[in-house]
Amino acid sequence: MEETILILDFGSQYTQLIARRVRELNVYCEIYPYNKSPEINEHIKGVILSGSPYSVRGEGVPNPDLSGIRKKLPILGVCYGAQLMAMQDGGDVAPSAVREYGRAELTYINTGSELMKGMSTGSQVWMSHGDTILDIPENFEVITSTHDVKVAGYKVQGEDTYGIQFHPEVYHSTEGTILLKNYVVDICKCSQSWTPDSFVETTIALLKKTLGDDKVVLGLSGGVDSSVAAILLHHAIGSSLHCIFVDNGLLRKNEFKKVLDSYQGMGLNVTGVDSKERFYDALSGLSEPEDKRKAIGRTFIEVFDEEAHKIKDVEWLAQGTIYPDVIESISVKGPSATIKSHHNVGGLPDVMKLKIIEPLNSLFKDEVRRIGKALEMPQNILSRHPFPGPGLGIRIIGKVTEEKIRILQDVDDLFIEGLKNNGLYDDVWQALAVLLPVQTVGVMGDERTYENVVVLRAVGSTDGMTADWAHLPYEFLAKVSNDIINRVKGVNRVVYDISSKPPSTIEWE
Ligand code: XMP
Repeated sequence: MEETILILDFGSQYTQLIARRVRELNVYCEIYPYNKSPEINEHIKGVILSGSPYSVRGEGVPNPDLSGIRKKLPILGVCYGAQLMAMQDGGDVAPSAVREYGRAELTYINTGSELMKGMSTGSQVWMSHGDTILDIPENFEVITSTHDVKVAGYKVQGEDTYGIQFHPEVYHSTEGTILLKNYVVDICKCSQSWTPDSFVETTIALLKKTLGDDKVVLGLSGGVDSSVAAILLHHAIGSSLHCIFVDNGLLRKNEFKKVLDSYQGMGLNVTGVDSKERFYDALSGLSEPEDKRKAIGRTFIEVFDEEAHKIKDVEWLAQGTIYPDVIESISVKGPSATIKSHHNVGGLPDVMKLKIIEPLNSLFKDEVRRIGKALEMPQNILSRHPFPGPGLGIRIIGKVTEEKIRILQDVDDLFIEGLKNNGLYDDVWQALAVLLPVQTVGVMGDERTYENVVVLRAVGSTDGMTADWAHLPYEFLAKVSNDIINRVKGVNRVVYDISSKPPSTIEWE
């Protein structure tokens, strides 16, 4: 096990961001719900207490006993975490008189404080709290203030325990990284040795040890996560890894063949299964998004299960699960709720009765890409936009037919190739086309047409949780729209989606 910084999560929307920032410093960091922290051992170098949507003064709010960590490990309380320790030690936390949300400047910094070292007076920080620490216990010392907040940061004397009421992890705290580095490197004494290469080396060794000569089956989707998981396993156990890549008939144009070829090029032991007709049969007559998702998910499980049974004596099912999926299922539920069910392989483990191995379940998406790079995987796989498991099935609004799939594949191909040819593909996080069940009037030559409308959507995002529509150049949109209407039979109108998430979502279904 490597050096680890623990985050006790009190449900803040920024908790994952703290973990990412720590990891960007090449220090491994894990998030635990505030009431389920692991055993403290020598690998744990420090504990960060996150923010929270709750008020420390509320009834029944998180108020764990911190005696197991106080004075034993360096602690950094952020916002709620800072207020919690101040209150537990007898300080006074009260609703803020002035609204403390948004940008503020540090007007006082104790330059002798190890946490604040290298930070400048006037440095901008991001505040986001309704409560504030009015009074600190006697053994607390103020290390930084803003104009409105005297106790913007404190240190507990005689302990490596700190609290700050601003958020160093958000981009608007311009010197937040300096503060976090001071904490993890100088105060927690982490050696910053967690790099993609070290991850690859330790993971391959661990996979070898865990799996030995056992056979493993893995479902490839063409996406980054399952592909990187496959390559790691391939390095560890070679041909004992059996990959299955299912053509559900809902992939992008020519995608199945292109991706299958590139998997084979990487030396993977992969079986491609053409199950288009089965998926189309399962979808026939369905128009509700969740019904379609379920039908696609169920058919995938059936096909995968049948194929996996053709491999003799398989013991393990490998999955490309990544850290956000894990956190989603364990973390403290803040105000956000699940909006849609996301199930690519949902239910697969239960049906197959195999042991599960998930080599990427501690990584964020961008880290998975870096691991893929360290493994020298082809860039076209690593830089791919995310693509949903149910594929074009949820981008054809309403009933799915083969004719509609053909139309959408052609539209999508012109859009995606256009982005690539104009150097815009890597600037957007995800781009897609949607076929609407709407026909509109147009005129082509001398003829009146009555044909389909397609939507183009491109968004910027970091994790898909929030997204903004991409401001693609008008000239580009004009050219793509023209190409689509001229070349794709059945389409006479193209619209561009300018909604952000929230309140919209990225996909239309
Ligand atoms: P939404 O539409 O919820 O999408 O804003 C966020 C991200 O999730 C992807 N997505 C899915 N991925 N199965 C998946 O594997 C699904 O059912 C599914 N629905 C949405 C979406 O493409 C975007 O990247």
